[in-house]
Amino acid sequence: MKYRSTSRFPVNVSVIGLGCWGLSGPSVWRDSNDSDSIKIVHKALESGVNFFDVAPVYGFGHAEEILGKAIKGFPRDKIVIATKCGLIWDDQKRITRCLKPSSIFREIDESLKRLKTDYIDLYQLHWPDPNTPIEETMDALIELKKIGKIRYIGLSNFSIDIAQKLLDHISSMQGLYNMFERNALSYHNIALEYRTEKEVLPFCEKNGLAFLPYSPLMQGILTGDINYNEKFTDVRSANPKLVGDNLSKYIQVVEKLKKIGTKIGKPVNEIAINWLVKHQAITSIIAGATKPEQLQENLKALDWEMSDELFEEIDRIVLESGILD
Ligand SMILES: NC(=O)c1ccc[n+]([C@@H]2O[C@H](COP(=O)([O-])OP(=O)(O)OC[C@H]3O[C@@H](n4cnc5c(N)ncnc54)[C@H](OP(=O)(O)O)[C@@H]3O)[C@@H](O)[C@H]2O)c1
Repeated sequence: MKYRSTSRFPVNVSVIGLGCWGLSGPSVWRDSNDSDSIKIVHKALESGVNFFDVAPVYGFGHAEEILGKAIKGFPRDKIVIATKCGLIWDDQKRITRCLKPSSIFREIDESLKRLKTDYIDLYQLHWPDPNTPIEETMDALIELKKIGKIRYIGLSNFSIDIAQKLLDHISSMQGLYNMFERNALSYHNIALEYRTEKEVLPFCEKNGLAFLPYSPLMQGILTGDINYNEKFTDVRSANPKLVGDNLSKYIQVVEKLKKIGTKIGKPVNEIAINWLVKHQAITSIIAGATKPEQLQENLKALDWEMSDELFEEIDRIVLESGILD
């Protein structure tokens, strides 16, 4: 395993982390089940993966609970838990954004309970909340840091303008980033207030912030296992990029990547992960998985390094394809 850290996030984290949305159960990810989820976390820990990205909203508490169950008995100080706050839900499971201090103080205690721990390593604001002044939110997080419930503060889905304002307090940024979505304008029909490659990566690099790319495999598209007529019935059905003609455009490029893969003897998932590893601004690639074998397949990417020539060839293919938004 390779580890990376940055000046504002001086914690050695595995360059391949585990995105734990997949631990939410089958109502969220079609192939997710608790027994496999626990095996995935154990396999990750055995393989040197020490970074786990989760959120309360993943399965409405379920993913945090499963992660807490799975890490029980492993040395806590060898595990880096990143969770989030700011997406809350009501009795009907309707989700809203809320970064009010009172809500954050409630959320942190619920997360600690579900994760069966007394501190969170990296506490991230999941999405901006236009109804709460960010200064009030930040005061709450600074208080949580002071009393030891969290170690570091991170932003997810925030613009660099806000990150610049909060720079003295934050350690990381998280955003949508993969070979096909570099400066995406939207995610699941939600407008993004940041351009990852143009703005966030250079900002993180310049300021010593960790950067955590989410959906590094474009929710499975960049594995080569999804075909033209795939009809997602899970959370991915809310992603308009994964339907009909939109999906076909991406799969056409995956077919080209497969050809390159055949030439070099590597599958598409490894190519997609190694393309990200090549970016020094990326700290941990939080790939999701719903089966232990997927995690294993993804970790194989670290058995080789992508040459500059291959990186450039891939860039040319993707840029020429016109799929970048
Ligand atoms: N901050 C945010 O707003 C935000 C948003 C999205 C995600 N995230 C974080 O980022 C993490 C990763 O993003 P993501 O889950 O959206 O997408 P992803 O990591 O790009 O894709 C994960 C999915 O790809 C498939 N997969 C993974 N490895 C595979 C392999 N070797 N072969 C075949 N299929 C494979 C699995 O799909 P199947 O289940 O179909 O097998 C898996 O569930 C999440 O778990 C979460 O921690 C954060």
